Amino acid sequence: MPSLTIPVVTIDGPTASGKGTVASLVAQALGFAFLDSGALYRLTALSAINDGIDLQDEAALALLATGLDVQFIGEKILLSGQEVGDQIRAEAVGVAASKIAALPAVRAALVGLQHGFLKAPGLVADGRDMGSVIFPEARLKVFLTASVEARAERRYKQLIGKGFPANMTALLRDLQERDARDTNRQAAPLKPAEGAHLLDTSLMTIDAAVAQVLAWYREAASQN
Ligand code: CDP
Repeated sequence: MPSLTIPVVTIDGPTASGKGTVASLVAQALGFAFLDSGALYRLTALSAINDGIDLQDEAALALLATGLDVQFIGEKILLSGQEVGDQIRAEAVGVAASKIAALPAVRAALVGLQHGFLKAPGLVADGRDMGSVIFPEARLKVFLTASVEARAERRYKQLIGKGFPANMTALLRDLQERDARDTNRQAAPLKPAEGAHLLDTSLMTIDAAVAQVLAWYREAASQN
């Protein structure tokens, strides 16, 4: 467990809840580092697909995750030196990521990499188990949700914006299946961490969600 004298803000929640956008804006506002933990699962999934590894072969996937050659340079994500930032956002990679994320050995293999993102003056970590498993001593924990319809619409816009094909009916189905898989798995299931603030963003702008998280952070920081 890394030292948590460095403040951490965890933002967890279901797929397409807007947590990635909110978390990166909160990190910018606070001048903190940012961990997109979902990207690590997506990178492992992409690597497995590229190498033809069976998505149920836990030992091979864990080995792959342990040896992941990944660099985050600004907005860029490099896998073995190749820019894959857009490629990992494909829906098929997200679905594969959620399958391999259910495997305990894969999760364990990615813990060290995630802890490595912690550095002064602070970290905002986005994922499913940031507050419950990876940074349980975080100064502020947020659980961000939105209705399934609002999330499907956001994901649709995100995919179209990146030039990927998207179909609303298929997206809704994917989203519900992914929620079920993330919530019902044994290893680090998706649920609010103890002490997490709940934020439903269905009817909220991104700016309002960011402002709420910053207000909670100021309150938490003043109590330390
Ligand atoms: O963008 P979206 O919210 O759909 O997904 P993501 O945050 O990029 O994560 C992709 C998948 O990785 C999720 O469906 C989860 O199954 C898994 N994941 C996880 O298990 N634990 C995390 N801390 C982050 C992601």
